[in-house]
Amino acid sequence: MCENKRPEDMKRINTPELAKAFIDEQVERVRQQVGGKKVLLALSGGVDSSVVAALLIKAIGKQLVCVHVNHGLIRKGESEQVIDIFGRTLDANLIYIDATDRYLNLLAGVSDPESKRKIIGKEFIEIFAEEARKLEGIEFLAQGTIYPDILESVKAAEGKKAVKSHHNVGGLPEDLKFELVEPIKLLFKDEVRVVGEALGLPHAMVYRQPFPGPGLGVRCLGAITRDRLNALREADAILREEFDIAGLNEKVWQYFVVIPDIKSVGVKDDSRYEGWPAIIRAVNTTDAMSATVEEIPYAVLHKITARITSEVEGINRVLYDLTPKPTGTIEWE
Ligand code: XMP
Repeated sequence: MCENKRPEDMKRINTPELAKAFIDEQVERVRQQVGGKKVLLALSGGVDSSVVAALLIKAIGKQLVCVHVNHGLIRKGESEQVIDIFGRTLDANLIYIDATDRYLNLLAGVSDPESKRKIIGKEFIEIFAEEARKLEGIEFLAQGTIYPDILESVKAAEGKKAVKSHHNVGGLPEDLKFELVEPIKLLFKDEVRVVGEALGLPHAMVYRQPFPGPGLGVRCLGAITRDRLNALREADAILREEFDIAGLNEKVWQYFVVIPDIKSVGVKDDSRYEGWPAIIRAVNTTDAMSATVEEIPYAVLHKITARITSEVEGINRVLYDLTPKPTGTIEWE
């Protein structure tokens, strides 16, 4: 059997019992694979890397070294959540790197979406490699690869063309050779979530909406500036909060704010107030290849608009994107 192929008779993990059996089996496997050696993991706080972290902490405790890189393009509260859950509650070996300045300096003046993606991906590898070189005695690299990633690479190898370079993050430099530990590589996303809950991770973390690797970087359109990025982060946090309150977080697949690099004339406190528009995107999809726009109650949209325009510095309008995919892609860049 090819170890990257899901066996046909493998049961779908859809109950806590099946998840527990899977966890026990993987804990045993990981212990056998790594023995007393150390394992490195890039922990973004996304579902996949979080589940791998929780699984490996259970299997090998402090032999796991988690590196969390804050590239300054993550959502409000995300690094704090990683530090709280993994650093405090699970008492993991966690290295936190705030690389915000490094990223924003590199991205200054870069407006082409694919160039932005490449810079963000490349810099991540560089920072991660720097950390890996500082640490002694690491022989293994854990990754949150899941089965759709494997299927995706098979498609890529067959030469199918993508609209955006989602998977443009290259491998680590030649001098860093690790054996891979990929305990969830045969699982589909819904199974990863069931396993995550069985490992005791918070529901909100395990069921959180997908968030692209380049993060807010592809939602702060064109050349990123600190003030517009901050406005985006605050507006996005308000949107997420209001979607939670309205119960829409369980109904809408992906919802976020986009801020274009344009200003319009507005009025505030009886004076002219030039500001950016915040664009709301809320879509449903099954495979991200096509998407429909969700009907959000007007009352919710009004409340979000009132909050964003009064609480977020620099924004004077809120718009709702009604475009399905196609013709619009889900992200604006
Ligand atoms: P699009 O915009 O292509 O997005 O309709 C489809 C899904 O992919 C996500 N996306 C990305 N994910 N790196 C990622 O990891 C990227 O560069 C990237 N671009 C888009 C997007 O959020 C949506 O879920």
